[in-house]
Amino acid sequence: MELTYENLQKTLDNIPSESRVKELLSTINTGFTSSREKINEYVESEDMVSAYTLFYLPTNIPKLKFILDQLPAEVVEDLKECRFIDIGTGPGTFALAWLDYFKGERTGEVIGVDKSELMLKQAKRCQNHFFPEEKNVSFQKEIPEMRDKTVLFWGHSLNEMGLKKSLQIIEDIDPDYLFLIEPGTPDLFEDVSKLRTSMAIRKFQAVYPCATLDKECPVYKKSKEGISDWCHQVLRMTHEPSIERLSQIINRNRRVMPLIAHVYRKDALALVESKARLIRYFKETKFSFEWEVCLLDQDSKELRTIKFEVLKKGLSKSRLKELKKESVGIEVNFELVKKMSESLWRVRLNEE
Ligand SMILES: C[S@@+](CC[C@H](N)C(=O)[O-])C[C@H]1O[C@@H](n2cnc3c(N)ncnc32)[C@H](O)[C@@H]1O
Repeated sequence: MELTYENLQKTLDNIPSESRVKELLSTINTGFTSSREKINEYVESEDMVSAYTLFYLPTNIPKLKFILDQLPAEVVEDLKECRFIDIGTGPGTFALAWLDYFKGERTGEVIGVDKSELMLKQAKRCQNHFFPEEKNVSFQKEIPEMRDKTVLFWGHSLNEMGLKKSLQIIEDIDPDYLFLIEPGTPDLFEDVSKLRTSMAIRKFQAVYPCATLDKECPVYKKSKEGISDWCHQVLRMTHEPSIERLSQIINRNRRVMPLIAHVYRKDALALVESKARLIRYFKETKFSFEWEVCLLDQDSKELRTIKFEVLKKGLSKSRLKELKKESVGIEVNFELVKKMSESLWRVRLNEE
């Protein structure tokens, strides 16, 4: 059964009316943006768990696909065999996204962990309905001990669990991979940047989005100097019609989803030529797209943010159309045309 809003409505118990869903999601959202104590209330009530599932399960799932699509093929191949532990799984969001992505190819176990019984029950129900054929999947309260090659995953849960506890779990489990997909806000950027520093100390390798962990993040450096900035991705997509409709009713735009996603790996990766990462979409002009990218500068050997003027000349109409709604966070394979200044480069895309 396809995981759509309408199928979710048929699957879940205690479905609130649409006007009630709107009310509940607004309460949940207020919790997310207020104190950490208040944030926990939504996982203790059945109708809030249902409202959360109806909206966030189908809208959060595509985020993992987007990130996995950005990773080197060698890493994706390796991930199929890993044990996947989704910390703060909620209604199974990213555990189910993992099952969906690796359908028929996964050999590793998938384990969703949450402190809320209601969320765990919901996750199990969703798995039974939407992925009944998938074996080796469980939802539980305890984080299992490290056994096989393991991916530890946080999805919109670092914030609630807190950085200190999350770092302790990383210390205890000592995973092979670490994934984070968190809200694209300045507060989370601060937490994720501290975690990035801690992963560098642990000698992990950056897989996404940074070119290396050996060099300081230029955006975090700026923010520590008091210049307000944060690095995040923006997934731009259209959802199925019923989700589009719900988003409009509850006034939450899901066509543009800011997120902060990071992926680290314990073992070194085979050296690949480092390209640039799109970190901000400024604007489109008659002749170019103006983007900010982050790259490992071959001259200074530092990570730097550079403004790119991406020339439109030579690109097909369909490619230009794609680039108009490109997601932030993709890799940019480019050829330098001219350095207009140290921090403004005119480039041409290398199209494969
Ligand atoms: C915002 S929800 C995210 C759910 C899901 N990962 C998603 O992105 O849709 C956060 C989840 O983390 C869980 N959580 C928060 N603190 C936790 C903790 N200390 N241990 C286990 N789960 C926790 C909550 O119960 C909640 O289900």
